[in-house]
Amino acid sequence: MASHFALSAVAGLILTLSLLTVTTSLPNTASTVIGATYSASTAATYPTPPTPERVASTVSSLGISSLRLDFSDPALVRAFLYSNTTLLLTIPNPLVPPLAANRSNALRWLYAHVVPFFPRTKISAISVGNDLLEATPEFSQFLIPAIRNVHLALLDLGIRKIAVSTTFSFVNVVTTPFPPSTAQFQDAPLQTVIRPLLQFLRDTNSSFFINIYPYNQYRLRSEIPISFPLFQEHPFSFRDDVTTGVRYRNLFDMMVDAVISSMAVAGHENIPLIVTETGWPSSSTDPSEVDANPVYAELYFKGLVGHLKSGRGTPLRKEGVTAVYIYELIDKQVKQGRNWGILFPNMTKKYKIDYSSGSGSILVGFGFLEMVIGQVLVFAFLLRGNAAISLL
Ligand SMILES: *[C@@H]1O[C@H](CO)[C@@H](O)[C@H](O)[C@H]1NC(C)=O
Ligand SMILES: *[C@@H]1O[C@H](CO)[C@@H](O)[C@H](O)[C@H]1NC(C)=O
Ligand SMILES: *[C@@H]1O[C@H](CO)[C@@H](O)[C@H](O)[C@H]1NC(C)=O
Ligand SMILES: *[C@@H]1O[C@H](CO)[C@@H](O)[C@H](O)[C@H]1NC(C)=O
Repeated sequence: MASHFALSAVAGLILTLSLLTVTTSLPNTASTVIGATYSASTAATYPTPPTPERVASTVSSLGISSLRLDFSDPALVRAFLYSNTTLLLTIPNPLVPPLAANRSNALRWLYAHVVPFFPRTKISAISVGNDLLEATPEFSQFLIPAIRNVHLALLDLGIRKIAVSTTFSFVNVVTTPFPPSTAQFQDAPLQTVIRPLLQFLRDTNSSFFINIYPYNQYRLRSEIPISFPLFQEHPFSFRDDVTTGVRYRNLFDMMVDAVISSMAVAGHENIPLIVTETGWPSSSTDPSEVDANPVYAELYFKGLVGHLKSGRGTPLRKEGVTAVYIYELIDKQVKQGRNWGILFPNMTKKYKIDYSSGSGSILVGFGFLEMVIGQVLVFAFLLRGNAAISLL
């Protein structure tokens, strides 16, 4: 009788212990780089773009630790010499066929954009093409050979620290995304591009790059309440995935986990994920687009940045995504359909948000305190149930 009681006490203790471990040490393990995308300047977008030096100093002062260039201008790469901002460069889609045809073309590109600056400019990755499957599908067959040539050309130069990948768009490659456990890559891109790419990413320790817009999913699906994409924690703002038993409290995590599930179905569950674009427009030229407003946009970015800094990761990936690049740094100077920038064209801040990972220390500190309290409670339980000590 007594031993039965002791056993169930031990079982209860172990259960409590494991619950405490789950609720105390798992949060705050993720550390996601917060970056932004700076778009190519053309006469139709930024007729008088800020100088590269101004862009570099603005990015630093905002606390943004990585900048993604969706084009690659050597003058911009130069402006980040000796800065702590890392760069993700993009090779434009039209260059993909020549890079696929001949490795010396890849070398030539690297000699212009990387060799003069690296490693004094911290270039972390190169995306070969941007949403190429959608933008220039006729180049699809060249994508994997071009990626391999850029990777091999980097090795020719003795550079091993720059990852090579390519950027996809969520809507174009993920099918049946909700609930995330039913998500898969669409068959055609999976067979021709994604499957060989995933193998390449695993072989070279690179990451899967994807553009994720909760804004667009929200607009496509009328059943989604606005609180869900905007990270508003309301008692009824959640979606359960009954297969995995996981509860989602925001649409961003749900979309990230749909990508993780799709990779797992394709046989690769552990490849790191980088969100190369995400954003919320503060205005639209279409008056019916009422959700494109600065209040929602600020809530989205605040919610996103707070969520990333909390270090909670996503339900399927506790370590979270490696990096998230906000789209985009600066509003286009010539008004487009929607304005996505976190800065006005005159480079002033649109929202009161601190993008620096440093300020997350308060949250991290709280997590640590929680962990300490958790450990103290564990010790209290241990002292009381001395039968358990010998077991643990
Ligand atoms: C980069 O970071 C290091 C270490 O935190 C710091 O000492 C240095 O001043 C920074 N450099 C710039 C240009 O901000
Ligand atoms: C690749 O380009 C180099 C230099 O332009 C040239 O010498 C070589 O013949 C080309 N190789 C192929 C396979 O086209
Ligand atoms: C990938 O990372 C692992 C672990 O960090 C390392 O042992 C391995 O050499 C890396 N492979 C390449 C190709 O960089
Ligand atoms: C920058 O532009 C915004 C939006 O047009 C405007 O509200 C703000 O006053 C401007 N700031 C400066 C310093 O020009």
